[in-house]
Amino acid sequence: MTNIDRLDGKVAIITGAASGIGLATAKLFLAQGAKVFAVDLPGHGLVEKLDSGDQVQTLEKDITEGDAPAAIVSGAVEAFGGLDILVNNAGICLPGSLEEVTDDIWERTMAVNVTAMFRLSREAIPEMKKRPRGRIINVGSIMSDMAGPGLCAYGTSKHAVAGLTKAMAVDLGQYQITANYLQPGAIITALSEPFMDDPEFRAYWEDKAPIGRLGDAEEVAEAALFLASDEAQFISGVGLNVDGAAIVKF
Ligand SMILES: NC(=O)c1ccc[n+]([C@@H]2O[C@H](COP(=O)([O-])OP(=O)(O)OC[C@H]3O[C@@H](n4cnc5c(N)ncnc54)[C@H](O)[C@@H]3O)[C@@H](O)[C@H]2O)c1
Repeated sequence: MTNIDRLDGKVAIITGAASGIGLATAKLFLAQGAKVFAVDLPGHGLVEKLDSGDQVQTLEKDITEGDAPAAIVSGAVEAFGGLDILVNNAGICLPGSLEEVTDDIWERTMAVNVTAMFRLSREAIPEMKKRPRGRIINVGSIMSDMAGPGLCAYGTSKHAVAGLTKAMAVDLGQYQITANYLQPGAIITALSEPFMDDPEFRAYWEDKAPIGRLGDAEEVAEAALFLASDEAQFISGVGLNVDGAAIVKF
């Protein structure tokens, strides 16, 4: 029987919730009884996609803006009275090898994928400390361990997600707050679409995964649910591959 209340009464912030992994995670967390404060850029249809009554609040905001962390955390606390779970999911993937990456690409990638994650997490901690347990789930990538051709800034940012998460786990364990990162492989979303449009690229990743296909956003959301659950209380500081074993096959 499917358990439908694994996050009953928990309050979760999810960034990048208008699309792909973030949207799937928001829907799954709502179905499991959580109250979700969902954040995404203006003009990405967040409100229409997550119109689920009084269990969900949306905020259209660029997470890199200076006032974003305070607006997001205070918004969640005002709406739902506290904070238990933070899913730092929003991310961008701008291609380019070392020689091709401009300063703008580098800085934007770090701003969204790393600095916003750091600043929002820092803002969330005082609220999480008030609860018996806290959960930070950062979305890294298989590129938190590996490099990929033509993805210099993205790969560097995802390695930083691994380092940042480990630092969080070490500093926050004393407050019963765990911090872990997901490592999705090739997942069908808007972010991967431009790459998957190339049949050779798509076939490479389908073949690389022993499971024999690309992944769905919902499958990554299930991993986020596990890390957010009470059952994962002694798991902290680790990266969880959700990649059909692609990365362990040479
Ligand atoms: N799709 C994959 O194959 C894959 C693989 C590994 C890791 N990831 C990671 O998963 C996470 C989610 O990606 P996805 O594949 O679901 O992509 P997606 O493009 O479908 O969703 C990302 C969401 O983040 C939002 N976002 C981007 N910049 C933002 C900002 N500054 N402020 C607020 N929101 C912002 C976008 O508007 C979008 O809705 C990302 O961190 C990505 O790096 C994805």
